[in-house]
Amino acid sequence: MPQRKNKFKNFINGKWVEAFSRKTFEDRNPADTEDLVGIFPRSQKEDAGEAVKAAREAFDSWRKTPPPKRGEFLFEVGRILLQRKEDIAHLMTREMGKPLKESRGDVQEGIDTAFYAAGEGRRLLGETTPSELPNKFCLSIRIPVGVCALISPWNFPIAIPCWKLFPALMAGNTVILKPAEDTPACATKLVEILVEVGIPKGVVNLVHGFGEEVGRALVSHSGIDLVSFTGSAQVGKEIATVCGKNLRRHSLEMGGKNAQIVMEDADLNLAVEGALWGAFSTSGQRCTATSRLILHRTIAKKFTETFLKRATRLRVGNGLREGTDVGPLINEQQLQRVDRYVKIGRREGARLLLGGKPLTKGDHRKGYFYAPTVFSEVRPSMRIAQEEIFGPVVGILTVKNLEEAIDVVNDSYYGLSSSVYTQNVNQAFQAIQDIQAGITYINGPTIGAEVHLPFGGVKNSGNGHREAGTTVYDIFTEWKSVLVDYSSKLQKAQIDTQ
Ligand code: UN1
Repeated sequence: MPQRKNKFKNFINGKWVEAFSRKTFEDRNPADTEDLVGIFPRSQKEDAGEAVKAAREAFDSWRKTPPPKRGEFLFEVGRILLQRKEDIAHLMTREMGKPLKESRGDVQEGIDTAFYAAGEGRRLLGETTPSELPNKFCLSIRIPVGVCALISPWNFPIAIPCWKLFPALMAGNTVILKPAEDTPACATKLVEILVEVGIPKGVVNLVHGFGEEVGRALVSHSGIDLVSFTGSAQVGKEIATVCGKNLRRHSLEMGGKNAQIVMEDADLNLAVEGALWGAFSTSGQRCTATSRLILHRTIAKKFTETFLKRATRLRVGNGLREGTDVGPLINEQQLQRVDRYVKIGRREGARLLLGGKPLTKGDHRKGYFYAPTVFSEVRPSMRIAQEEIFGPVVGILTVKNLEEAIDVVNDSYYGLSSSVYTQNVNQAFQAIQDIQAGITYINGPTIGAEVHLPFGGVKNSGNGHREAGTTVYDIFTEWKSVLVDYSSKLQKAQIDTQ
């Protein structure tokens, strides 16, 4: 066996290896910190260097492997993921806390991405186009970028690594995956599957550890051609600075301050359902989570009453237990951050309607649980309406019409996801046109992206790229224009055409 139970390794150049330093870190269950999920290598610069070297060496032969063949590996990965969906979902809930049904969804997103990317092996489309000259043929083709550092977060421990890994591999790149230090076990399961299907050595490498250590080493390594990162805007900016200086390609998916608008004509029960799911699933720890509810003033009271009634009934607990709606937060630091924001909200004058405190008794005593929290009387300028909290906290703002609602949505540093509940087609299209966000849902919550559509945001939510969809290939490939002259004479563009 490559790895002993509970003691895990890096995967570099086709081998499971310890960190050079032999240092390790612990991975614990956030619902029960006495439960040790595993011990992982705490990698540093040397480990990053070895992984880059392996990926560099493997690149030439992988790039020359026909894309449909690369796709076959991914079909097989998807099939195995499907077989192991239940086991991996259990591990995920144990490792990061979200309820089992959500963990199953996370693995499913990985499966969908595998099949979608695998099929792309028979497309990977470029364009053909005429030439301005006779007997000349023009086309554009996609070529791989090279060695990619993929730095993934803990909130979607399978889906997001898959979003990055599969299209990167499909396009002919070799990769080094650096998963979040809070979810190294899920990433390991994924890499084990890639190994099992026979991906050649060096094509996929895995290094565990911390962002400030091995993450930083990868981002600043001269052998890296591309960095793909999902995480906070603050870290994203640091990565952009290093990559910008070195003209290294970088794709960043960062935070959100996503809003759900509910108009006066909306189906209120549907809007309440959507808000509960958008705000409190994954304990609000999604970059697409609903953190602002923008209510038309005529329905605000009724909506708030029903919403509170339903939110009060949410069961907070261990995600492995049947019937749990909201799991723990990922770690102590995140629990404190959420609590700090709740205190800020109270100081700013928002009205606390529900929750507002960590849950520490009975079943909650061994984990990082926080009560679903609702504020009303939130003003757009308050910090709780502006800053990403990444927890089960939602603020209610009221507005007089759609125009004001859209202004409030747009009054944000971020622009990832958004949602509007209305039965009025004119209002829906007005919102689609005017909301500044990468994603707008009509009559659905701010969460629930599908893998064949572009995913990403405007403003500080990203840096202009879109993962998923076919747009992900604009990240993981370079364009090459090809001009074939079969006239057997020198033809001069722009000159012989006059
Ligand atoms: C994220 O939180 O970074 O749309 C991704 C959703 C999920 C993906 C979220 N499918 O909520």
